[in-house]
Amino acid sequence: MAGNALGRMRALGLAALWTFWALLTLTAPAAAQQATYIGEKACLGCHGQENLHFGDTLHAKLFRQNPRNEREQQVCEACHGPGSLHAKDKGNKTLIVGFTRQWGSPIEQQNGMCLACHQGGNRLHWPGSTHAGNQLSCADCHNPMDRVSLKGALVKPTINETCQNCHRQQRVEFNKRSHMPLPEGKMSCVDCHNPHGSTTRPLLKAESVNALCTSCHAEKRGPLLWEHAPVRESCLNCHQPHGSNHDKLLVSARPQLCQQCHSPSVGHPGQFYNASQTAAAAQLGGTASQRTIGRSCQNCHSQVHGSNHPAGARLQR
Ligand code: HEC
Ligand code: HEC
Ligand code: HEC
Ligand code: HEC
Ligand code: HEC
Ligand code: HEC
Ligand code: HEC
Ligand code: HEC
Ligand code: HEC
Ligand code: HEC
Repeated sequence: MAGNALGRMRALGLAALWTFWALLTLTAPAAAQQATYIGEKACLGCHGQENLHFGDTLHAKLFRQNPRNEREQQVCEACHGPGSLHAKDKGNKTLIVGFTRQWGSPIEQQNGMCLACHQGGNRLHWPGSTHAGNQLSCADCHNPMDRVSLKGALVKPTINETCQNCHRQQRVEFNKRSHMPLPEGKMSCVDCHNPHGSTTRPLLKAESVNALCTSCHAEKRGPLLWEHAPVRESCLNCHQPHGSNHDKLLVSARPQLCQQCHSPSVGHPGQFYNASQTAAAAQLGGTASQRTIGRSCQNCHSQVHGSNHPAGARLQR
């Protein structure tokens, strides 16, 4: 009984929402068609406060001092759309495009305003990208009303802070013992990712993980006389891209790192290198094998990324 009543109430609520939504979408375009441009002076009459910081932004400088076309000349209305109806009926949220959550303009409408000038280029793959698909708006990362960042009109002073606002997990990864030098400010998320979309998941800037990594670590690119197969396949076979508690961003400690693929039955006895003989095991009363100390397998197989030495087939030189 109670469940039924609740269900009916939900259905009614949904129906009401649906009608409301239908009305909104039906009236919005009609209203927008009638609205005309009234110029920034009219806006500033009521929005002087918002203009205090806007003047410092690149958009303001360009649109006011050096507009290249009619749309740029419209300044505020270039982004917010024509405002004649809004100026008369300020509380009606369908009469001006707002970019804040509380104003609630549809995301597609918001992004359409920006993309009218910023389509293509870095945003070629925006349609269908993970961020677009998850209903992000340009304004989730950009705030053109204030000069918060040196460049990029971002919502936070730096790129990393902008991204980590939502990506908490990655913030944790970059704080691990070994990490890419992001917290040090030497790199940012956009060195590897294009937040506007790309053809390579997850939003990578290159056509593959290895192409990405070797764009900076060129010496690992090869081709080498003696390749190590997993290196050619993907750097992520052994490395974390963001951070790790093992040194050199490794996915696990040595010798386990090597042994996950090279099980004991290789050309030399594997039992020298098993878990009971590591330095850690020795501290618990076992005996450490000399060969697992420090760089472990790499004490002998030092050229783990491949070798150019004529006698480097076993990656020893
Ligand atoms: C007569 C005064 C007046 C004029 C003129 C006016 N606005 Fe507004 N505007 C307001 C008020 C008041 C609100 C807040 C309404 C509310 O919160 O219910 C508002 C809200 C907005 C919002 C939504 C803010 C948000 O929360 O996201 C935007 C965007 C906006 N105005 C832009 C403009 C632009 C652009 C112009 C010039 C074309 C303009 N306004 C002209 C008074 C005015
Ligand atoms: C380049 C595009 C762009 C231009 C030009 C622009 N705005 Fe905005 N405006 C935005 C975005 C994006 C936001 C949302 C910022 C945020 O998330 O707080 C915004 C927010 C606002 C708000 C809501 C309050 C706030 O500050 O967040 C008002 C009001 C507003 N703009 C008015 C104006 C007026 C008036 C002008 C002209 C003087 C103007 N805008 C020019 C993009 C623009
Ligand atoms: C009328 C055209 C127009 C509209 C609309 C517009 N922009 Fe721009 N924007 C420009 C121009 C011109 C520049 C200068 C750089 C360039 O030539 O691309 C620029 C620069 C930028 C930059 C780089 C700023 C910097 O300081 O490095 C960002 C980020 C940006 N726009 C985001 C947005 C967002 C987000 C919106 C929508 C809220 C938007 N733009 C709406 C024309 C526009
Ligand atoms: C997930 C965050 C994010 C979203 C969403 C986002 N951007 Fe950006 N955008 C950035 C970052 C980060 C930069 C890089 C700034 C830099 O390199 O200094 C940037 C740079 C830009 C630039 C200047 C450099 C360039 O690529 O030309 C423009 C213009 C721009 N964005 C427009 C947009 C538009 C339009 C949208 C919405 C369709 C959008 N952005 C959505 C994060 C975002
Ligand atoms: C407003 C929140 C928000 C901001 C800010 C944001 N993201 Fe995202 N991002 C998301 C959501 C939501 C997803 C999809 C769900 C997920 O994978 O967590 C996502 C997914 C991703 C993915 C995975 C893509 C895939 O194909 O699996 C990458 C990479 C990414 N974001 C990078 C960035 C970068 C770089 C920035 C800063 C320039 C950024 N994000 C800023 C919300 C955000
Ligand atoms: C050195 C290049 C590099 C940098 C810098 C980088 N990433 Fe990544 N990121 C990657 C690679 C490569 C992957 C793919 C991992 C995989 O496939 O397992 C990835 C994956 C992701 C994912 C998908 C989920 C996951 O963790 O696998 C998100 C979200 C993400 N990165 C966000 C960020 C954010 C936010 C920043 C900046 C704070 C950032 N990345 C900086 C290379 C990088
Ligand atoms: C934009 C350039 C860039 C890209 C792309 C890049 N790296 Fe790096 N990488 C660096 C820099 C800079 C350092 C720090 C070097 C230093 O501090 O001497 C570094 C350090 C490292 C280290 C050593 C970490 C340590 O603790 O000493 C490893 C391992 C590494 N990168 C692997 C990768 C992998 C794997 C990828 C691809 C997912 C990648 N890198 C992509 C620039 C890059
Ligand atoms: C089979 C595992 C494995 C693969 C795959 C791998 N690495 Fe490594 N990498 C290591 C090990 C182990 C170290 C630590 C070397 C040391 O301590 O001397 C290392 C160290 C590094 C370092 C820091 C020290 C140095 O040699 O410059 C960088 C940078 C690096 N790797 C980049 C890469 C890149 C780029 C790729 C993909 C092309 C890759 N690695 C693939 C195992 C691997
Ligand atoms: C992701 C799996 C993987 C990991 C991790 C890995 N390897 Fe390999 N390794 C291979 C494959 C596959 C070959 C090629 C075997 C073949 O050609 O028969 C190979 C070849 C070798 C060879 C040459 C053997 C030969 O027969 O020519 C040596 C030496 C070697 N690896 C050492 C290491 C060391 C040391 C580590 C740890 C730093 C390591 N490997 C990590 C997969 C891996
Ligand atoms: C004390 C030096 C030393 C250490 C430590 C060492 N190896 Fe070797 N490894 C060798 C030598 C020497 C060969 C060449 C044997 C041959 O050519 O017949 C070899 C051969 C190999 C081969 C090729 C086997 C084959 O059948 O051709 C692999 C794979 C290998 N080692 C992996 C490892 C792994 C994984 C570790 C760490 C668990 C490790 N090695 C530690 C010296 C060492």
